[in-house]
Amino acid sequence: MISKDKINDIKHSVNIVDIIGESVALTKAGRNYLGLCPFHGEKTPSFNVVEDKQFYHCFGCGRSGDVFKFIEEARGVSFSESVQIVAEKAGFQLDIPVTDRQTKNVNHPNQVLYEIHSEANKFYHALLMTTKMGEAARHYLYQRGLTDEVIKYFQIGLAPQEANYLYQHLSKKFVEADLLHSGLFNTGNANMIYDAFQGRIMFPLTDEHGRVVAFSGRIWTEKDLADKQLAKYKNSRATAIFNKSYELYHLDKAKASIKKHREVYLMEGFMDVIAAYRAGLENAVASMGTALTADHVRHLAKYCQNIVLTYDGDKAGQAATARALEELTDFKVEIVFLPDQMDPDEYISKHSAEALANVLTKFRLTGVEFLIQYLKPENPDNLQMQIDFLDKIAPIIAQTSSITAQNTYIYKVADMLADFDYQQVEDVVNRARIHNRKQRQEAARVPQDSYVEPLSQPIISRQERITNLIRTENHLLYRMTEHPYLLNEYRLREDFHFVTPELQTLFEVLKANGEITAYDLAELDEAVQRAWYRVLEEKLPDEIGANEIEDLEFNRHREQMRRENRKRLKNVREHSHVGNDQQALDEIARLIAQKRKME
Ligand code: CTP
Ligand code: MN
Repeated sequence: MISKDKINDIKHSVNIVDIIGESVALTKAGRNYLGLCPFHGEKTPSFNVVEDKQFYHCFGCGRSGDVFKFIEEARGVSFSESVQIVAEKAGFQLDIPVTDRQTKNVNHPNQVLYEIHSEANKFYHALLMTTKMGEAARHYLYQRGLTDEVIKYFQIGLAPQEANYLYQHLSKKFVEADLLHSGLFNTGNANMIYDAFQGRIMFPLTDEHGRVVAFSGRIWTEKDLADKQLAKYKNSRATAIFNKSYELYHLDKAKASIKKHREVYLMEGFMDVIAAYRAGLENAVASMGTALTADHVRHLAKYCQNIVLTYDGDKAGQAATARALEELTDFKVEIVFLPDQMDPDEYISKHSAEALANVLTKFRLTGVEFLIQYLKPENPDNLQMQIDFLDKIAPIIAQTSSITAQNTYIYKVADMLADFDYQQVEDVVNRARIHNRKQRQEAARVPQDSYVEPLSQPIISRQERITNLIRTENHLLYRMTEHPYLLNEYRLREDFHFVTPELQTLFEVLKANGEITAYDLAELDEAVQRAWYRVLEEKLPDEIGANEIEDLEFNRHREQMRRENRKRLKNVREHSHVGNDQQALDEIARLIAQKRKME
C-alpha cells in the first residue's frame, strides 16, 4: 500500500501534459492543450488537458480525471497499478524519447503493429495447443464446454507464465520501439521489458477486417483464481490500432451472418459470444469490458439496424441494458432476458446448446417491455413509487410510433398500478408526448457552455444538466478549496450543508483533511469524482470579490426555495390528478405561504 503523501508526491512530480502527450498528440490552445480523445473515436479534437490544474476533460464523451485516472482508463488498470506506472515514469524516466519513434513501415504507419499482433497470436495459440502447460489450460477450457474446434475458431491462446518469453521471441523480428508501442509490453526497473500478459488464457481481439489488434487475458489457474486482487480479465491498453470503445469482439467473423439474418446479438462477454457460436448462432458480438459507447453504436450501424441485446440477467446486466437502450435510439432493439441472473455462457452450461438457441431466438422483449419490467415499482401500492414510475415510463411509451403497441403498454402499466386506471395512464402518456416535443424544441436552442469554445457538438440530451443551484454550490466549494480561511468559516457553521449530495461529500472530506487528494478521490463514488472535476473547471479570478460570498449565499437560498416550490406544484398536480382534493388544497396553501416569504 502506497501512502497518501507518497501518492501526492508522485502526482506532483509529473506533468499530466507529458504523460498524456505520450499517447495523445496534443497542441497548445490558449491555456490548455487539445487533442483527439483516446476514449472515443473522433475527428475534431474535444479532449482538453488543463495544465495548471493537472486534469483532462473530454467535451465529446464527458470523461475527465487526473493523471492516475487517465492511466487507469487508457490502460484498463486499477488505481494502484496506475499509481505504480506513474511512479515509474516519475522516478526512472523510462518513457521512450520521441526521437526513437521511427522504424515504421512505409506502406502503412501501423503495419508493424499488426504484424506484431499477428505473431503474438500465433505464439500464444501454439503455446496453448502444443505444450505441457497448454494442456492444463486447454483442460480448463474443455471443462467450460469448449472443443478444439471452438478453440481454433476463436484462436484462443495462452500467455507463458514467464516474465518476457513473448518479448524474447518477438525481439528477433521487431525493433524495441515498435514492440513498446504494441501495448503488449511494459517497462520496469532499470529499463527491463516485461510481457504485459503472463499466465493468462488469451482471447485475440480482431478488428472488422480480421486483423488482431489487441488481446484480453483471463486468469485460469487455481492459484490465480483464488487471488482476489487479480482482475478476471485484463485487456490490452489503448494503442494506435486498438480503441476499445470502438472494437467489438468477433465482429469480423460475425459480419456475414449479421447481414444474412439482418440482426446482431450484442453480449457482455467473450465467453457469451462463444456460447452463442456453440449454439449455432454466429451473429453475436461483445463490447470489450466497457459499457456500450456511441462509437460502438456507429460501428454496428455499418452492418445492421436490428439489435438483440443479450446482457447478463443479473442486476448489473439489466442496468447495462437500460443504458444501452439510451444509446440505441436509432435501432430496432429486442431484448433477451435470461432467467436466474444467468449469462448466455452459464445458460448453455446449465442447459444445452439447443436450449440456448431456443431462448435467444424465441424469448424476446421489446425495449419498452423491458423497461416496464425494469422500472416497475417495488411496491405497486405505494403512491409515490407509482408516480415516480409513471414519470419515467410515460415519456418512453410516448415515443413508441405504433399506436397498437402503445395501447398494449398502457394496459400493461395500468394493470400493474394500484391507483391508476387505463384512462389516467393514457393522460400521463399524452402529457409526456407534449413535454417530449417541447424539450426537443428547447434542446435546439440551449446556450453553449461558456467554459471554452465548443469543439464538437455534444449531444445535448445526454449532457448532464447543471442547475443554477449546482452551479452556485460548485462556485462556493471552489472558493473553499482555494481559501482556507473561508473553509474554516464554514467549518464552524454547524447548520451549513450543501444541498447537492456529491458536493456535501466533498465538503466533508475537505473539512476533515483540508484538501482533496488523488488518494481521497479514488475512494469516492464515480459521481462524486465527476462532481469534483466540475468544481475544478470553475474559471474564477484569484481574489474573492467584495460581495461574492454573500451573493452566492443569496442565490443558493433562492434556488432552494424555487426547488421546493416546484416540488409543491408537482404535488398539487398529482394530488388533484388522483382526486385527493384536500391534500391538493393544503399544498397550495403551503405554496402561497412560501411565495409570500420569498417576497
Ligand atoms: N471484463 C473485463 N475485466 C474484468 C471483468 C470483465 O474486461 N475484470 C470484461 C470481459 O470482456 C468480460 C466481460 O467484461 O468478457 C463480462 O464480464 P463478466 O460477466 O464478469 O465475465 P464473463 O463474461 O461471465 O466471463 P467468464 O464467463 O469467463 O467468467
Ligand atoms: Mn460468464
